[in-house]
Amino acid sequence: PARHAIRGSYVTFRADPFAAPAADALVLEEDGLIIMEHGRITHCGPYALVRAHLGENTPLTHYPDCLISAGFIDAHVHYPQISAIASWGEQLLPWLEQYIFPTEAQFASMDVARQTARLFLSELLRNGTTTAAVYCTVHPQSVDAFFEESARLGTRMIAGKVLMDRNCPPNLQDTAQSGYDQSAALIARWHGTGRQLYAVTPRFAITSTPEQLELAGDLLRRTPGLYMQTHLAENLDEIAAVRSLFPHHSSYLDVYAKAGLDGPRAIFGHAIHMSEHDFAHCHHSGCTLVHCPTSNLFLGSGAFRLFDALRPDRPVHVALGTDIGAGTSLSLLATMGEAYKVSLMAGDTRLSAAQALWLATAGAAHALHLHDRIGHIAPGMEADLCVMDPQATPLMAQRSARATTLAERLFTLMVLGDDRAIRATWVNGKVVHTRAEAA
Ligand code: GUN
Ligand code: FE
Repeated sequence: PARHAIRGSYVTFRADPFAAPAADALVLEEDGLIIMEHGRITHCGPYALVRAHLGENTPLTHYPDCLISAGFIDAHVHYPQISAIASWGEQLLPWLEQYIFPTEAQFASMDVARQTARLFLSELLRNGTTTAAVYCTVHPQSVDAFFEESARLGTRMIAGKVLMDRNCPPNLQDTAQSGYDQSAALIARWHGTGRQLYAVTPRFAITSTPEQLELAGDLLRRTPGLYMQTHLAENLDEIAAVRSLFPHHSSYLDVYAKAGLDGPRAIFGHAIHMSEHDFAHCHHSGCTLVHCPTSNLFLGSGAFRLFDALRPDRPVHVALGTDIGAGTSLSLLATMGEAYKVSLMAGDTRLSAAQALWLATAGAAHALHLHDRIGHIAPGMEADLCVMDPQATPLMAQRSARATTLAERLFTLMVLGDDRAIRATWVNGKVVHTRAEAA
């Protein structure tokens, strides 16, 4: 049926926990009811109040002892790299050459692209992730395969064809013109079709000529509402290479800015090695930086300065990314746990559980200008939900038994949790993943 309801404890935000005390920012509805119809939340609130709207025959799923959140948002991830995860021994540039380019070359095959897109999206749902900003490969068919599968599932996804016309193997190169033409055709086919959104995706400054970056800027100017995603200031050798390729630009970010790639829908992965000038520019242009802690640790890239990025006098939008295959987990819970550890390691302010959850849900939705659709549990929002089980494993059950506050329950989930802690995932008002009850 088009109408469903779920009952259980749920959490949602009414303010930004980086600006307001957690108790004001995060709302817990201990015995909540969420009614969904035609893919949207129509009613939510205390069960005792909202049940009057249930109607006679609305199927009701009860999740006692679980904690329900808006679906997670992964703001930086490469679907073709799912099979290159756990590649040993290299930092960014040699890692790309040795492991990633050969893996991405396989996506000339539509069969490989379809199978991988299917596996990747089902893994996202098993992890409670319902929206992601996704890099495909240079092959246009890798984008078709991805959006076809996302459309079948009904997920809201942002994705795009990688643009790279230099400094990569010949079988992975487009040209400034072919990359432009192929992107324009994919935008016409997919952007705004159902829940699918397109991101113009130059891989990074090293693999695009100035002409290609200029044409990427043209694409953005031509179609309002498009996203732009790329990598920024991830690794010191990368930054040195960008400086020698673009000697007349004042910084790495300036290479993108001069090409018109720095607006409010620009999504920059990593942004580890940033100057104060770079952060101020990001604040003024409204772009989003994506904190990818498991990737930054795995490749030895460095520590993202989260609270510097969020400095109240010039806050920059920040979201979380798994960055598979440099990242080591598709779980946003695990990524939140690693972001906490990085905040301590970097001598930064200690990231709270509420703040981490904000970055994975409502904060990301705000950064991506999708907060009127996703990231919150409220009437009118699209019905994408993640049902977490704080007792999913014996260890979690042991720890959760002693967790008295909401902050403690959430912190236990993010430090000990992963896909095993996702009891169910709902997309567009329908259940798309259910985990068998732990033995
Ligand atoms: N920089 C350019 N391409 C990539 C990529 O695929 N992964 C990461 N982590 N950084 C990049
Ligand atoms: Fe990446």
